[in-house]
Amino acid sequence: MSYDERMKIEAGKLRDKEQVRILAIESSCDETTAAVIGNGRKILSNIVFSQIPMHIPYGGVVPEIASRSHIEKLDAVTVRALVEAGLALGDMDAIAATQGPGLVGALLTGLSYAKGLAYGLGKPLLAVNHIYGHICANYLAYPDLNPPFLCLVASGGHSHLIQVREEGFDLLGCTQDDAAGEAFDKAARVLGLPYPGGPRLDDLAEKGNPTAFTLPLPNPAGIYDFSFSGLKTAFINLVHHLDQKGETPNPKDLAASFRLRVVEHLCERTLKACRNLGWDTLALAGGVSANRLLRRELAKRCEEAGIRLVMPPLSLCGDNAAMIGAAAYAQLMRLDVAGLDVNASPALKLFPEERLKR
Ligand code: KG4
Ligand code: ZN
Repeated sequence: MSYDERMKIEAGKLRDKEQVRILAIESSCDETTAAVIGNGRKILSNIVFSQIPMHIPYGGVVPEIASRSHIEKLDAVTVRALVEAGLALGDMDAIAATQGPGLVGALLTGLSYAKGLAYGLGKPLLAVNHIYGHICANYLAYPDLNPPFLCLVASGGHSHLIQVREEGFDLLGCTQDDAAGEAFDKAARVLGLPYPGGPRLDDLAEKGNPTAFTLPLPNPAGIYDFSFSGLKTAFINLVHHLDQKGETPNPKDLAASFRLRVVEHLCERTLKACRNLGWDTLALAGGVSANRLLRRELAKRCEEAGIRLVMPPLSLCGDNAAMIGAAAYAQLMRLDVAGLDVNASPALKLFPEERLKR
C-alpha cells in the first residue's frame, strides 16, 4: 500500500481519537512559524520568528532572502514549538503546512519540510490554504465558535466577505482592485513610513485628526464588494498637491484621514451584508484585523446592531502557525489529507469557481 493510501486510513482513525495533536508550519511570507495545536482549538505552543529586520533595508519583502531565512530557521522554530508544548515529534498525530497563497520559494521551504516530517513519521500531511488559516484563528480564540458565520478577511492580498458554512464557503464580495492591507502599505509608503507600512500608519493615525482631510468614500457597484484604488489615488494626489503648494501637513492627520475612510468602507459593506442577509455572528480575519480603528469601529457597530463580533487576539492577527494547525484539524476531520505530490501554490484560491455567489 502506498504512503498516500495508508494516510487516508490513518486520518480516518484520527477522527475517533480523543486527543489529536497537529504540528503546523507556516512560511508563506516573512514569518517562520511552528505550532502544536490540540484538537484544532488549543494552542499548546506557537513560535513565530519574524524576518522583518532583514527586509527593512529593502523597503519590502525580498523573496530570496525570505526563502533562505526560512530554511535556516525552520528546524529551530519546530524544536522550540515541541519543547514549549512539552511533547516529542513522535507525539504528533499529523503534520500541516501552508500550501498557498504566498511567495513560491517561501511556501516551498515549509511545505517540503512538513512533507519530509510526515513521510518520515508515517503521519498524515495536511496542506492548508493560508486564508482559511486566518479565518480559523478565530476558532483558537473562541472555542464555542462554529459555522455558519460571516467573515471579513482583510489582509495584504485579500479583502473578502465570506459566508463560512459547515460544508464550505460562499464568496459574498471581494475587492475589485487593491486589498485593504495593500492600500495601507501604499499609503504608508507615500508618507515615507518604512516597511511594514500598515501597522506603522495605524500607529501614526492613533495620534492624528481623522477629519483634517476629506477623502472619498469608495462606492463600487457590487453592494458587498470593496475598492481601494480610487481612495489610494486620491490620497496620493492630496499629498502631492499639498507638497506642490509648499504646505507641510501633519503626517498624523493624513494617516488618520486615510485610515478612517478605509475602515468606514470595510465596516459599511460588512454591516450591510449582516443586515441584509440576517447574519448575527461576524468574524474578522487577516493581518488588517490588527488595525485598532477597525477593531473599535466594528465592535461599536456590531454592538449597536446586536451582532456577535469575534476577532483574533493581536497575537493571532498576523501570520502564525497556530491558525494553520486549527485549519488543518478541520481538514483532517473531513479526511482532506494531502498526497506526497502536493505542491506549493503561490496563487491558491479559496474559491475555485472564482465568482461571487449572492
Ligand atoms: O494577513 P497578512 O499577514 O497578509 C496576507 O496574508 O496577505 O497581513 C499583512 C497585511 C499587510 O498589508 C500589513 O500592512 C497589514 O496586514 N496590517 C495592518 C496592520 N497590521 C498589519 N494594516 C493596518 N493596520 C494594522 N495595524
Ligand atoms: Zn497572512
